[in-house]
Amino acid sequence: MKVWLIGGRGLLGSALRERLETRGIEHVETNSELDIADAARVQAFARRERPTHVLNAAAYCRVDDAETHQDEAFRVNALGPENVGRAATNIGARVVHFSTDFVFDGRAHEPYAEDATPNPLGAYGLSKLAGEQRLLALPGALELAYVVRTSFLFGERSRGFAGRIVRLIREQDEVRVVADRHSRPTYAGDLADAALALAGLGAARAAEPAVYHYANAGVTSWVEFASTIRESCLAHGAVRAARIVPVRAAEFPQAAERPAYSALATARVEAALGLQPRPWQARLTEFLARLWG
Ligand SMILES: NC(=O)c1ccc[n+]([C@@H]2O[C@H](COP(=O)([O-])OP(=O)(O)OC[C@H]3O[C@@H](n4cnc5c(N)ncnc54)[C@H](OP(=O)(O)O)[C@@H]3O)[C@@H](O)[C@H]2O)c1
Repeated sequence: MKVWLIGGRGLLGSALRERLETRGIEHVETNSELDIADAARVQAFARRERPTHVLNAAAYCRVDDAETHQDEAFRVNALGPENVGRAATNIGARVVHFSTDFVFDGRAHEPYAEDATPNPLGAYGLSKLAGEQRLLALPGALELAYVVRTSFLFGERSRGFAGRIVRLIREQDEVRVVADRHSRPTYAGDLADAALALAGLGAARAAEPAVYHYANAGVTSWVEFASTIRESCLAHGAVRAARIVPVRAAEFPQAAERPAYSALATARVEAALGLQPRPWQARLTEFLARLWG
């Protein structure tokens, strides 16, 4: 067994790497120095290293910048997974590719199942959807490819929304946070465990290759998530803890439109792995306790 971890320096990638290390699974890691949009280099690397599993956590994740850098977003998020998928399936390796709740338009009122119709609102979501489709259209994808969609990631690296809120709460008197966007937060470590299990890198056999959704339990708003972080700051004696001011998305102009409601239904992964995702509050509290400790 040998894993090729792509994007191991990222928020999710570092959680995947940590688990591979802890479990003593042989792995090689690449980041942007091996551009996944470069088909020849991706093929050559796979042929040389002969991984049995490829985990693609690399992506162009700058949602707003993607609006003005669509070519780059599509190169990394659409062409990249196709190249990675082709290189993996050519050598019979299982490939796990990560995608996003932003493939949906957010107009639903109940969590999105894997077969709900995607309708991305912006360039980032469009590029991620194209990546899923190009990967799943490859010969061999049916037997070897997993697409794992997730939402609202937080994790050990102080990147992403959680890291930004922690910084702002410590630095400012007031932090404005959108109240009318709802999703299921996801602890990167839990997602990493689920992805490894799906691909057969856990204790049990691999699950059926398919599209899966993974998120922690509970739907929340960005403002409730930020308020939970603030409470934790106070509980840990923060000298400064900015007031959280709820605002409507419409008052908070951003280049890219985002889905108002993007909770993902996780029944398929629960059935495949025989697990229930833990509530996001428990995971956030643990994550913050480590951050302060
Ligand atoms: N963050 C979220 O809230 C969120 C929500 C839903 C879904 N997702 C999905 O989850 C996955 C992981 O996201 P993340 O937040 O962990 O990403 P991240 O922290 O931004 O990390 C991205 C990784 O991709 C690498 N990378 C970027 N361009 C590359 C290229 N052209 N070739 C090879 N590697 C490249 C980066 O390498 P360098 O360090 O060298 O630049 C980095 O290791 C993505 O598929 C994303 O769409 C994320």
